[in-house]
Amino acid sequence: MNATTPPYILHHSSCYGLKPLLDTSVHALVTDPPYGISFQNHEWDKALPQREIWQDAWRVLKPGGFGLVFSAVRLMHRLMVDLEDSGFLIKDVLFWAYLNGMPKSRDIALDIDKTLGVESTAIGEYNYVQGYKKGGADNYYAASRKTKYETASDIGKRYKGAGLGLKPAYEPIILVQKPIDKGLTVAENIIEHGTGALNLEQTRIPYPEDEGKVGHNPHPNGRVSANILRTDDFEDGYDKFFVVPKVRQQADKFNHHPTIKPVELMQHLVKLVSFEQQTVLDPFMGSGSTGVACVQLQRQFIGFEVEDSYFEICEKRIQQSLHAATQSLF
Ligand SMILES: C[S@@+](CC[C@H](N)C(=O)[O-])C[C@H]1O[C@@H](n2cnc3c(N)ncnc32)[C@H](O)[C@@H]1O
Repeated sequence: MNATTPPYILHHSSCYGLKPLLDTSVHALVTDPPYGISFQNHEWDKALPQREIWQDAWRVLKPGGFGLVFSAVRLMHRLMVDLEDSGFLIKDVLFWAYLNGMPKSRDIALDIDKTLGVESTAIGEYNYVQGYKKGGADNYYAASRKTKYETASDIGKRYKGAGLGLKPAYEPIILVQKPIDKGLTVAENIIEHGTGALNLEQTRIPYPEDEGKVGHNPHPNGRVSANILRTDDFEDGYDKFFVVPKVRQQADKFNHHPTIKPVELMQHLVKLVSFEQQTVLDPFMGSGSTGVACVQLQRQFIGFEVEDSYFEICEKRIQQSLHAATQSLF
């Protein structure tokens, strides 16, 4: 890629093999692969990616290059084993914590009533909502009225309110590294390949304006970013973390991808594992949020997406961000 070609290459194909890519040609991997949890029953999310793709990613990454791979709480252990068995070092797990996750559990006592053939008691109605907007309980998405029931059987009463899971409040993002070249120090590896250290400088969290004492030797740009990222400010006023809200579906009118990640979050992650003009790979682009972040941050981007309609969204979004980035230079 040079100054006259776009700073990205988008492959409309399956990523397996990463065939067009040369060995040790990529500086960083940032990807949000299928979680293997059948999210909204989507075919592409029925299984975790095959281990082969992590071996491919290892092949094309430069020694010392980092990867950030999104995962789901229930299957992250399998993904971590796949990454480790493919040659990566597990360096950390970032938690993207959100406060507005919806508990997916049900009141098992009502199931007990049903199993016993006892009719549960209707005790009123409630607003069924898909999520709250900022501003509290009166401000919600897609509400409908539903009947509220209470258990009526004796066994049900004993198990009233029992459920199967906690309120989900974070998504894990696995930080991995391809080992640096044998016999090289980190400094030598960086001089040789441009990889081997995290870009902590560009991801610092600025101090709040009203904060007085920030330690003995405060850095002018703020604190080193933590391994917890958040979607919202806590009401405790503790603002020492990177904060980025979740994306509501259809953030862009034409973007109907069901698992869009916020561009601001992807920017933070891209900055953490790469430096300007370096090349970042996303084998599972979805609607292209990693690519948009890369274009905005002057990174070269290589992405793969297999589904026709998602690929079209990627092309459009990434082209639009390049256009916007170019316009802002004038
Ligand atoms: C979780 S989504 C990524 C969403 C993305 N982070 C965004 O913000 O839009 C994962 C994507 O991987 C794609 N995918 C699944 N298997 C693939 C494969 N073998 N090669 C390329 N893409 C694949 C799916 O079609 C899906 O769009």
